[in-house]
Amino acid sequence: MSIFWFITTLLLLHSCTPGVGMDHGIVNGKVSIPHSRPYMVYISDKHRRAACGGFLIREDFVMTAAHCKTNNLRVYLGVDDTNRLPHGIEVDAIPHSHFVYEQCHDDIMLLKLKTRATLNETVKTIGLPKTRGEVIPKNCMAMGWGWQKYTHTSTSRVLKEVNLTLTKNCAPPHTICTEGGTGPSKGDSGGPLICGNVPHGIVSYNIGNKSTGYITMYTKISHYLPWIHDTMRGSL
Ligand SMILES: *[C@@H]1O[C@H](CO)[C@@H](O)[C@H](O)[C@H]1NC(C)=O
Ligand SMILES: *[C@@H]1O[C@H](CO)[C@@H](O)[C@H](O)[C@H]1NC(C)=O
Ligand SMILES: *[C@@H]1O[C@H](CO)[C@@H](O)[C@H](O)[C@H]1NC(C)=O
Repeated sequence: MSIFWFITTLLLLHSCTPGVGMDHGIVNGKVSIPHSRPYMVYISDKHRRAACGGFLIREDFVMTAAHCKTNNLRVYLGVDDTNRLPHGIEVDAIPHSHFVYEQCHDDIMLLKLKTRATLNETVKTIGLPKTRGEVIPKNCMAMGWGWQKYTHTSTSRVLKEVNLTLTKNCAPPHTICTEGGTGPSKGDSGGPLICGNVPHGIVSYNIGNKSTGYITMYTKISHYLPWIHDTMRGSL
């Protein structure tokens, strides 16, 4: 990581906040076939002021980004159109203990559902990577209800998704990244980056701007497997 990289990153770290963690939306991409991503979870506070994505990894656990933590978070399962939300489920938020807003690293959080999910056609879990350091397929997909434009509020009512290719050597430790003019945006934080049918990343933040292009950072899930398993085992 070069000094320039480090400074650039520092300058943009303030953007690591809920719902505004990203500078551009699922720009381009496509509207998902309704309920075709049944692990996808819509997250907001009870006043619906800030929104994030997440994904169901067990009947009682949703994975998302630590910077999505606010008071009174609710998770909504089996959502396609956010104008028709089911009842939200209350959660206990368990952010990674090393996460700090100013730095945005270890940007991972588990949400323990106070009421277990009932799995059905539109609500399913997705399996995590199996081993630490597992090779990640390059062809990936991100999804969310976030902004569709670079610079103004344009959340999507329905779930959208986009294909992305992993970029080599652009990420700080324990993150993976993609770059270009499409990808996650404000409101997409916490959603999965799925590579080869497995969630390998969690949308965290991006750097750059419209003229220079964007690099999007994702928390590398496989690095955190011990923490994930310990946390989930501790609350069976
Ligand atoms: C599946 O579960 C979701 C969330 O609890 C619910 O909104 C939906 O109606 C259920 N679908 C079926 C087919 O039961
Ligand atoms: C992603 O790529 C697959 C395989 O090429 C294609 O079928 C799918 O439509 C693409 N999805 C998007 C959102 O462009
Ligand atoms: C985009 O980045 C370039 C290079 O860092 C900078 O000069 C420019 O002011 C930025 N533009 C916006 C709109 O932030």
